[in-house]
Amino acid sequence: MADSSTTCATPRTDVAFQRCISPSCAATYGVDEVLVACTACGGLVDVVYDWDRLGPPDSWKFFENKWSARRDRLAFSGVWRFYELMQFAPRDNVVTIGEGQTLLQRSAGVAEFVGLKPDGLFLQYEGMNPSGSFKDNGMSAAFTHASLVGARQAACASTGNTSASLAAYCSSLGAMKAVIFIGSGKISYGKLSQALDYGALTVQIAGDFDDAMARVKEVSAEMGIYLVNSVNPFRLEGQKSIMFRVLEGLGWEVPDWIVVPGGNLGNSSAFGKAFAELREIGLIDRVPRLAVINATGANTLYQLYEKRGVRWNDGATAPDVIEQYYVEMDSEARRASTIASAIEINRPVNLSKCLRALDTCDGVVRQVSDQEILDAKARVGAGGLGCEPASAASVAGAKLLRDEGVIAPSDRVVCILTGHQLKDPTATMAYHTTDQDQFNEVLGKRGVRRATFANRAVTVANDVDEIVKTIQLYG
Ligand code: F0G
Repeated sequence: MADSSTTCATPRTDVAFQRCISPSCAATYGVDEVLVACTACGGLVDVVYDWDRLGPPDSWKFFENKWSARRDRLAFSGVWRFYELMQFAPRDNVVTIGEGQTLLQRSAGVAEFVGLKPDGLFLQYEGMNPSGSFKDNGMSAAFTHASLVGARQAACASTGNTSASLAAYCSSLGAMKAVIFIGSGKISYGKLSQALDYGALTVQIAGDFDDAMARVKEVSAEMGIYLVNSVNPFRLEGQKSIMFRVLEGLGWEVPDWIVVPGGNLGNSSAFGKAFAELREIGLIDRVPRLAVINATGANTLYQLYEKRGVRWNDGATAPDVIEQYYVEMDSEARRASTIASAIEINRPVNLSKCLRALDTCDGVVRQVSDQEILDAKARVGAGGLGCEPASAASVAGAKLLRDEGVIAPSDRVVCILTGHQLKDPTATMAYHTTDQDQFNEVLGKRGVRRATFANRAVTVANDVDEIVKTIQLYG
């Protein structure tokens, strides 16, 4: 059952607080404050727990036992089943619409495509969330915090999935009004239709995602609207649960690799934080390696991390190198452009947290072309778990790392499928089409030349014999 309460309640200020991620600043704030940046230095903030006072569970059995109590909404939610690992709000304030019912699935077909043993590749399918993407994990946590602080309006900038998720939570809880900022023409119909259908106020900005992001920050600050983009540290608390479910799916064994698409870098940041905390409280004794995959057309993290050597470096992340990169990007008028619209982002807002996660998890960053993304997406689809293009970047990235020998043939690899296939059918249809004009219009202009794994529809006369013959020939 959903909880529609928005009254202010007492946050868990005794055991949780917010803290600037920069070790040289480390300013702290209560969990009852609404922050998208440190007010002392402008850096990103984390939610931090006093594990000694909390006394977290010392065994995964504790969480397993919750499966027998699934009539309790906190045990039902795949996020809040792990409440003890994100305890910033009292139980009564937790907001859930049943998110996180997602499974880790082994895929022999995708394993073969990537170059791994049949039992070496796992897909964490977050498209199964209520609004069709991983965003719901974070949104339930952000809404829980919003309910603590009595927010009445919530806003986001979005390439589509955040807006669909925000709109779904606002409408199903009936507690807050959603305001959505999108770049013009930069959102798939599948996602935009959700926001419109769920009744969100949708503001189309003449610009791209980065413009929408900059404006929503300004407007939210000016109007006191609760911002739910991943600069909100509570969002990332919910997204940690994706890793808890991955571990659960592996019988609490740590895989060798987590591979995730990188856009605004919220997921990768949340995953790194999750593993750092689990190691700190002793629930795991080693962390997996993390691979963050950019699209070649939106490769800021790849450029900074792999080409310009930017590292976390205990919070000294070389802001001058980063700034110089953005100056060059702007002076050359380079704007992100990829078929993977969800990760078509120039200035990832969680860059510093992601650098910290890459440090925690001995991470690597790679870029993959739209061609590689669509071929990987077709292989994922052929296995029965459709995903949207951005999600398939993880599988394309795993294949690249395997080809390079960075991932070993015997490694256990988990790719995160972040969004559902039905959210962006345009790319899928263009890939499988027999119509060359449609292919060129959607994909050819992006440098996609082949549809190696296309499954073409077969045209046949309106005649039983012809249909039977066709099925005998192709079936
Ligand atoms: N995959 C999908 C399907 C997404 O929608 C997004 C982000 C990402 C990957 C990137 O994740 O930001 O954690 O690195 N979509 C945002 C949105 C930007 O507005 O829906 P990240």
